[in-house]
Amino acid sequence: MKSMVKIRKILKKDIKQIVLLEEELLGETLGVELLENELNSNITTFYVATIGDKVVGYIGRYAYIDEAEILNFVVDANYQRQGIGQRLFDKIKEDLPQLKKITLEVKASNTKALNFYYKNGFTKIDVRKKYYKDGEDALVLMKEYV
Ligand SMILES: CC(C)(COP(=O)(O)OP(=O)(O)OC[C@H]1O[C@@H](n2cnc3c(N)ncnc32)[C@H](O)[C@@H]1OP(=O)(O)O)[C@@H](O)C(=O)NCCC(=O)NCCS
Repeated sequence: MKSMVKIRKILKKDIKQIVLLEEELLGETLGVELLENELNSNITTFYVATIGDKVVGYIGRYAYIDEAEILNFVVDANYQRQGIGQRLFDKIKEDLPQLKKITLEVKASNTKALNFYYKNGFTKIDVRKKYYKDGEDALVLMKEYV
């Protein structure tokens, strides 16, 4: 199964599937229009994980010089815990070897994601109280590459 998963930059044809994936897993989406605009951006890059024509995950990052921020990160529930998230995350640094620092915001209750980030060497640097619409706090995490 793992060898069938490919990681590549997003194409226009992927956007519909990404929106569906976000709606299903995150309950909200960046939306077709925003994603289409980001295709032409120099500072924002999205990668998808695919099996054949099916998009099973994606990650988006904003980057400036040697710093990056993760914007969105989702793996289809049927394909989680198989290392796909790890491959998507690793692709960011692979394409930006000069990267020194990466940050993100995550819901305080999101155990899966927190496990993922702590396993990958992130530390908590801030808490944004009641940051989300539902009143939940956001944790700000950071990883430094040495
Ligand atoms: C976070 C997410 C993208 C990880 O993707 P994934 O493909 O499942 O991740 P991987 O298989 O590469 O897992 C790597 C590590 O993540 C953590 N992890 C992943 N799924 C987990 C789970 N169900 N329970 C606990 N830890 C989990 C573990 O530390 C795991 O390492 P291990 O398998 O050696 O224990 C995925 O869980 C997801 O899409 N969640 C819903 C959307 C979301 O919350 N996105 C993040 C928003 S900030």
